[in-house]
Amino acid sequence: MTSRVVVSAPATIANLGPGFDIFGLAIAEPADVVEVSSAAEGVRISDISGVGSEKIPRDPARNSATVAAMRVAEMLDATLSAEFSIRKGVKPNGGLGSSGASAAAGAVAANELLGGELTKEQLIEAAAFAEGEVAGAKHYDNVSPAILGGFVVIAGDPPKFVKLSPPEMKIVVAQPDIELPTRKGRQVLPERVKLRDAVANAGRASAMAAAVSKGDLKLFGEQMIDSIAEPARSHLIPGFAEVKRAALEAGALGAAMAGAGPAVFAVLEPEEPHEEVAKAMREAFEEAGVGCKTFITSPGRGVEVVLKEE
Ligand code: HSE
Repeated sequence: MTSRVVVSAPATIANLGPGFDIFGLAIAEPADVVEVSSAAEGVRISDISGVGSEKIPRDPARNSATVAAMRVAEMLDATLSAEFSIRKGVKPNGGLGSSGASAAAGAVAANELLGGELTKEQLIEAAAFAEGEVAGAKHYDNVSPAILGGFVVIAGDPPKFVKLSPPEMKIVVAQPDIELPTRKGRQVLPERVKLRDAVANAGRASAMAAAVSKGDLKLFGEQMIDSIAEPARSHLIPGFAEVKRAALEAGALGAAMAGAGPAVFAVLEPEEPHEEVAKAMREAFEEAGVGCKTFITSPGRGVEVVLKEE
């Protein structure tokens, strides 16, 4: 019987331009780490630390890690009695799937603790359920790459998850010092879209999926253009257009909003001048009056069980 488990789940970038709600990519860093120990009774959160931890609910019924864990217990028809400790590496409301990372880690940790044998698809369902409860809508494009790793295409309803291995690349992320809850980013979306925009997005998203299969990063980057969600959301992020332009002018192959923002990311060949791109993006945000942190990462693996004790 497992009595203690530590699970790490990565930040993720959703949408990647034209793949609104259907593309997600796990990145190598940052990550959330959830530690779960068996307890006598009930589900309790003993500690939340790390970036933005003061904003994360301590009530197990409102925290994505514990909601996902309790859903796993329900799916296994088991009783979960456990104490949770959560270390946030992924900034909440920052555009990199923060609640999804915690949900993925919570689901996997509970499954390990309960000796369960839920499939990855079932774990994705449990984590997405938690996202629905906590963030207001199921975001498969964060939780599926957080669990599966790599680049994931989410197709249809019920969703099918197609995992692909992305080409080697460097990803520059600029995360401004503002918060933008996904819920807010969804409120500004259009109810209807123009046929030509839908066609343009479908064509570019298809080309990006093909680019992943072919290992063609140039094609991937140049098709990272969204005609539907980004134009409707850009006003929520000061300097968004300038940050994107700065990244491209400094040598990025493509740049787009990460999920519903406010983070913006750019992709480059591994040997290209990523520091220069980071600097250009940072300066563009600063010119718009917003401080920002930049970091350089690459595509990453899915959730990992870091430690498991009897
Ligand atoms: N695909 C979602 C959106 C983001 O753009 O609203 C998921 O975090």
